[in-house]
Amino acid sequence: MTRSLLLASLVIATASAATLAERQSSCACGYKDSTGAIWRETFTSDFTTGWSTALNQNFYKFTWSETHPKVPYTMQYITDNVYGYNDGLGLKTSAFPAGSAGPVKVAGIGTLRSDILYGSFRMRAAVPSVPGVCFGFFTYQSNTQEADIEFLSSDANYYQTLHQTNQPGLVNDDTDPDAAKVVTIPGADFTAFHEHRLDWLPASTKYFYDGTLKSTVSKNSPTVASSILANVWSDGGSGWTKGPPTKDAIATIYYIKGYFNSTSLSASQFSSRCAAASNKTPCSV
Ligand SMILES: *[C@@H]1O[C@H](CO)[C@@H](O)[C@H](O)[C@H]1NC(C)=O
Repeated sequence: MTRSLLLASLVIATASAATLAERQSSCACGYKDSTGAIWRETFTSDFTTGWSTALNQNFYKFTWSETHPKVPYTMQYITDNVYGYNDGLGLKTSAFPAGSAGPVKVAGIGTLRSDILYGSFRMRAAVPSVPGVCFGFFTYQSNTQEADIEFLSSDANYYQTLHQTNQPGLVNDDTDPDAAKVVTIPGADFTAFHEHRLDWLPASTKYFYDGTLKSTVSKNSPTVASSILANVWSDGGSGWTKGPPTKDAIATIYYIKGYFNSTSLSASQFSSRCAAASNKTPCSV
């Protein structure tokens, strides 16, 4: 690298570091949500401003294959099914016409960070309308440390129904009504863009629709550092996704935002940062 190029990149690096520090210091005392909770950190991916850059800032794409017990189809997460769509981010389960061979092609993303411990997570999105998929937005550490909101496009009222579950949602193959709830919002149309919000708290998870609390699930609320995931998938299982879909089934996401605490910024580090800031008022979110 030439000397002038090196200098130029140093200047750019210094400039963007300053911008980041300024942005952080303006909310150095954190974020106060509509319930009064204070969160130390934030991330935003606004896919309407350039989906790929917004995605790469905070998320990776799933690439694995997944086999569930007692269902007809294996699934393959493919990066091509995470793409720019309708001015936002598309997550797609590909059309699987009757008689198709091979795995069902599905899509998923997860936060680069897996140190998130409680927070308020918001997604502005439109659900898939082709029957036979599950569209999920959830916290994940393991199959027993996981809080979900899930939209099943084969549900009769899929455009106003979601499933809120703190895993495990089953006891002896039966739904555990204290860990899994079906939430229906009369008059809602989830095929249009709305904000679906999951607040993950120490002893419960709460679902908000366009800022209004609709449901609380207390049993099995996760307690360990986790990632935030979103996916659109189908294993053909008769008990959940049904399908696979015979046409492309696509969720469109405009943004995902998180206000959260993590195991990487302690309460005392946060307090010192706040004490040193000129603006000591938390930002309202
Ligand atoms: C998140 O961090 C804030 C600031 O340290 C603290 O007041 C709050 O209790 C924390 N929330 C949870 C759920 O731990």
